[in-house]
Amino acid sequence: MTDDDPGTAADADADDEAGATGTAVRRDRFSGGPAREFLSSLAADAAIFEADLAVDRAHTVMLAERGIVDGAVAGEILGALDDVEAAGHGELPDGEDVHEAIETAVIDRIGPDGGRMHTARSRNDEVATCIRYRLRGDLLAAAEATVALREALVEVASEHAETAMPGYTHLQPAQPTTVAHYLLSYEGGVARDTERLLDAYDRVNLSPLGAAAFAGTPFDIDRDRTAELLGFDGTVRNSTDAASARDFLAEGSTACATLATTLSGLAEDLILFSNKGFVELSDAYSSTSSIMPQKKNPDTLELTRGVAGDAIGEATGTLSLLKGLPRAYNRDLQRAHAGVFEIADDVREATAVAAGAVATADWDEAALADAAGEGFSTATGVADLLAMSGLPFRTAHEIVATAAETVSDGDSPAAAAAKVDEATRKVTGEPLSAHVSREDVESALDPAASVASRDSAGGPAPEAVADELATAEAGIEADDAALADERESLAAAAELLDAEVDSYA
Ligand code: ARG
Repeated sequence: MTDDDPGTAADADADDEAGATGTAVRRDRFSGGPAREFLSSLAADAAIFEADLAVDRAHTVMLAERGIVDGAVAGEILGALDDVEAAGHGELPDGEDVHEAIETAVIDRIGPDGGRMHTARSRNDEVATCIRYRLRGDLLAAAEATVALREALVEVASEHAETAMPGYTHLQPAQPTTVAHYLLSYEGGVARDTERLLDAYDRVNLSPLGAAAFAGTPFDIDRDRTAELLGFDGTVRNSTDAASARDFLAEGSTACATLATTLSGLAEDLILFSNKGFVELSDAYSSTSSIMPQKKNPDTLELTRGVAGDAIGEATGTLSLLKGLPRAYNRDLQRAHAGVFEIADDVREATAVAAGAVATADWDEAALADAAGEGFSTATGVADLLAMSGLPFRTAHEIVATAAETVSDGDSPAAAAAKVDEATRKVTGEPLSAHVSREDVESALDPAASVASRDSAGGPAPEAVADELATAEAGIEADDAALADERESLAAAAELLDAEVDSYA
């Protein structure tokens, strides 16, 4: 018998021998040597302790329903599992992993019949099921955090539809925008992160249980029933695919890494904006210096930015581990999931922190208004105005580029308009007034008027932003409802499993 064998009635006999020693469910042929600790995932398996208990329960209930295990024995196994759960992961006997340790613990409590729990399955389908069971909860939690962040972004945006601020490209002043438009740009990104997490969830939430080692089982099992009892939306049908596939880990980790990357950009911006005095983080999201008494540092955002590095590392590591693995099960897989659970949790936490930081930050409207037009950032608007009067845009661009050589931040609108007039004469041989009025040029040079003029769909003008706000709110509501549905269906399955388990008590 090799380690790969699924539990069968014959194995149960072998297990009984080992069980009789009270130390392990399997003969210690390979597991007792110097590599014992290296082989063991028991400590890391704390993350799937609850999942494994649920999987054991669902599998045992199904075995009893199919007459593969006697109902009374199933009742004893299920009772022992409750006891194992109450004792906790820390009290498990030694074992190569949580699956083996729980089985040993059940056998320790009720004797060799406990080994019947592993009939018609293998640790291969068992662990794959546990990982999916655990990860789906992590993905839902991360997705819920993204919705909360979107709510914060929308709420603050709705207060700042008219708050002009400088917009940057290449970190250089580019065009005036508003705080609302800026924040909604992140709402759009985070909304796609929610979608990615929900998409990943759909492919994670399928049951591999019953695939056994990889090649199925002769027992008359009901895979759809265990899937139902565990709240999965269906099964991964091909048994080899079911036992081997870990692409859902790659997908889950990349969805988290992409979200973390979105967050890192938001964090970086807010760090820069707080450096410029545009925004002040609340004390609750800041940190002080142990030596410099005046300091208030945006540490929460720096850590948020930092999480992205770990998340990208985890996604890369996951793909690297999976690359080139032959079918079907290989022990490399034991190292594939623990980091994904951790990073999903870190990213969820970073998302929640970002939401709190955004919700409580104070935007300095006066400082933003002062800076909104800096660096002749209204230049594009002036060029647009000239082009709207009939000049080719390229000529308009040349006129304003010529003016930009002399326009400076201290110029009044009238002074800047005079420089545009001079440039128009230089480039076209005609005065500015041949194309547009001075008044219109001065208005284009005003940051607030500049913003208001850009009312194309999705633009920063307050009325365009009002549409964007409504769309964002509708999206949040829809995703909130989708998440609540998933939570409800998991809770209903958990109740069903509890009720079935209780019926054997
Ligand atoms: N702890 C193992 C894992 O996480 C369980 C599967 C062991 N299967 C085997 N054939 N050695 O992958």
